Amino acid sequence: MVELLARAWDLGWPIMIGLVGLLIYFQATIKDPASKKSATFKTLIGILCMFLALIAISNYAHNFEYDPGMLPVSLVMITAMSFIMGLYFTNIGALMKIGGFMFFVAAALSGYGNWLPQVEGGFPPPVVKLDFQSMSAQQLGDEGEKIIFGGIGQSKTQGAIGKGQCPLCHGFQKGFLSERAPNLFNIPARSAEQLKAPNYHMNDAAARNTEQKEAFEGSGTATNAQEYIAESHACPSCYVVPGFGVKGSNDTVSPMPRIHKPPISLQLGELAAVDTWMYTREGVESPGYDAIVTSYEKFIPEADRPKASEGDEGEGKGGDMLVDGSEPHDALFAGAGCTACHTIPGIKDAEGKVGPVLWEGTNAPKRMKDSGYAGKAKTTKEYITESILDPSAYVVTDFPDDQMPKDFGLKLTGGALSKIVDYLAALEEGKPLPPKE
Ligand code: HEC
Ligand code: HEC
Repeated sequence: MVELLARAWDLGWPIMIGLVGLLIYFQATIKDPASKKSATFKTLIGILCMFLALIAISNYAHNFEYDPGMLPVSLVMITAMSFIMGLYFTNIGALMKIGGFMFFVAAALSGYGNWLPQVEGGFPPPVVKLDFQSMSAQQLGDEGEKIIFGGIGQSKTQGAIGKGQCPLCHGFQKGFLSERAPNLFNIPARSAEQLKAPNYHMNDAAARNTEQKEAFEGSGTATNAQEYIAESHACPSCYVVPGFGVKGSNDTVSPMPRIHKPPISLQLGELAAVDTWMYTREGVESPGYDAIVTSYEKFIPEADRPKASEGDEGEGKGGDMLVDGSEPHDALFAGAGCTACHTIPGIKDAEGKVGPVLWEGTNAPKRMKDSGYAGKAKTTKEYITESILDPSAYVVTDFPDDQMPKDFGLKLTGGALSKIVDYLAALEEGKPLPPKE
């Protein structure tokens, strides 16, 4: 409600209400100069009605695209307004009553359509296999935005994230400072420049990374901008942007996960969609589906390419929740995104290197004893919960603050959080791993 008023305020509506209020006041005094009291009363009623109308209009404008189920609320409000005016302003009463009745009918009709419980039907929604190859650049880019941010138009929403998990680390908006990883604005143009960097291994064989170049025989040898982007996804350590390497690795190891490997496991078509979005959103012409897929084939051997059937849950979870706690442990940590940054003993593919190894049964008691600890936790489980919901409460020594996202509280259900906390609390160095589903 407050939000709606604020929006309306922006629209300059208040001035209008004031004017209408004044008008009603004068109109009322002229009709009945004897009674000032009733004039004031009518003015108040008038203003109240205008507020109703205002909120109704604002609600309508806002929810038109956003939540059509809310539209009948506006109609009901306008109906109510018409009737109130009809009652108190006798000179226009008949008009208002007729108008009100018409709105009532409209509201009833549209409410009937919108508010009936959606009939779920006995059939599961058909699984739509996306045919990336035959899409236009625009459609392909839309799919890319969905993979990165979870939905079309979500790239402008703070904290939006999709199965590609890129926003965990990367900023995408121009001028947005991102410390965890390079801001990906302007990446199409910058890629061509990176190839010329003196420490790019094509230019300096000695600096060539040995950790991960085996991703494929051709890796470490991008020759154009699109190949550079493909290589960044398929073999992040092949070239590490200076200053962004894993701490202590002297920029030879990248903290970025290989995007075609579990748990993220994007297929080549999906990678093409992601890349296409990075071009088209800047108005840059994309090299085209086939050229992008070919660039990935250079770096990802056939056997390593995820198949269309595996790990493809389409759009993922409904709503904004990453996981709900019903998942087995491996899927739980992967889905929540922890594995991109943390190594978690016992969890499949949890080999992230951005944050500490999560031996929390061992770590938590130590952290709470640290003289620099200013959080509120008293027990291991409280410490873990605090670390997830409020990462800045205590920043582990040698790790930068502001790396771990601060909005997990909004993205994990209570069930998911407690399952995560229970598992991590049971991880003690030197002890057997806890059981998992
Ligand atoms: C766990 C954190 C993390 C995730 C998740 C991640 N990245 Fe990265 N990425 C990095 C870091 C750190 C670098 C810089 C080091 C390097 O060059 O590898 C990087 C580098 C890149 C580069 C090269 C940037 C440049 O300036 O040269 C591209 C392109 C890129 N990432 C795209 C993506 C996309 C697209 C996704 C999602 C599908 C993604 N990344 C997911 C951390 C991440
Ligand atoms: C983008 C990278 C990133 C992601 C994603 C991430 N973390 Fe972290 N996490 C960090 C960093 C860096 C630290 C150390 C700095 C700090 O304490 O904030 C950390 C610290 C922690 C700590 C405290 C560790 C200790 O030993 O004191 C816990 C617990 C933790 N993370 C759990 C999680 C869980 C659970 C998830 C998934 C829901 C997650 N993290 C996702 C980067 C990340």
